[in-house]
Amino acid sequence: MARQITKAVVPAAGLGTRLLPSTKSQPKEMLPVGRKPAIQYVVEELQAAGLRQLLIITGERKRAIEDHLDADPDLVQALEQAGNEAALGDLAYLESEARFFFTRQSPPKGLGHAVSLAADFVDGDDFVVVLGDSMIVSPDPAAPLREMMAAHKRLKASAIVAVETVPPEETYRYGIVDVGGAEPAPGEPVAMEDIVEKPPVETSPSTLAVAARYVFSPAIFAMLSRTLPGKGGEIQLTDAIRLLIQQGEPVYAWPLAPDQKRYDVGNFESYFRAFIEFALADERYGYLVRKYIKAKAYEL
Ligand code: UTP
Repeated sequence: MARQITKAVVPAAGLGTRLLPSTKSQPKEMLPVGRKPAIQYVVEELQAAGLRQLLIITGERKRAIEDHLDADPDLVQALEQAGNEAALGDLAYLESEARFFFTRQSPPKGLGHAVSLAADFVDGDDFVVVLGDSMIVSPDPAAPLREMMAAHKRLKASAIVAVETVPPEETYRYGIVDVGGAEPAPGEPVAMEDIVEKPPVETSPSTLAVAARYVFSPAIFAMLSRTLPGKGGEIQLTDAIRLLIQQGEPVYAWPLAPDQKRYDVGNFESYFRAFIEFALADERYGYLVRKYIKAKAYEL
């Protein structure tokens, strides 16, 4: 029987050139989205999904990520003495049972290359990949991962990839999956026939875009080792998944539900959207932001 999945890999080594100058000396994964840096949402999602060993792929100018995920007993003690329960609650991700591991990808040669660096850590187990710059907004942000892991086990899959529907004119920004024209229901895994990196709308096989969450069997590593640099000269994870499909391995797309929305800090437009969304949803400050935006809307 397949063992429970406990390992997750978080690629966070990319250069973030689309967010310059903000990313000149700090990782994009550390940009605040509402009151937390992007990667904290990712870590909290993984912890809530029950993952216990988290490998973060970092690189040059990424040290702030390690500092953010490092225990800080002095800070915790000072907050306890001050009785600052709210701040202590916001640091709960440091108190979880989950352990953090770090490795560096220097230089960043693509998402597929970043994932390939996890082979020793994964050591033959099934595992999860979540991109360090992309968050889920949902009443239960860990639900997609939990359900994907269950489906992975049930279907004895080699890969399950979360997908979301995007507007046709945006397919060129994403990995797009081919599900043979099926119109899959949310939460229902559907067999993938192909996957293409950033296709133009004219040749895009669908409008189902990869939503930055994956569950893999270790078979992906053999495919990654055979994957040559593709789009942008980078080793693409998409190309390795494509090889899995071509080998006849069971690979599925898993559509997010309408109340499971993916946000990212990949470019300024998506970052601003994410910030507004998280600021509005903030349990402490959301009502003030809503009031401000409503008043502001009259001026626009
Ligand atoms: P992106 O595709 O947004 O690329 O990465 P990028 O290089 O970070 O950004 P630009 O294109 O220069 O603006 C998606 C996720 O994959 C990680 C990134 O850190 C981000 O979390 N990534 C990407 C790696 O870990 N290594 C890579 O070589 C590329």
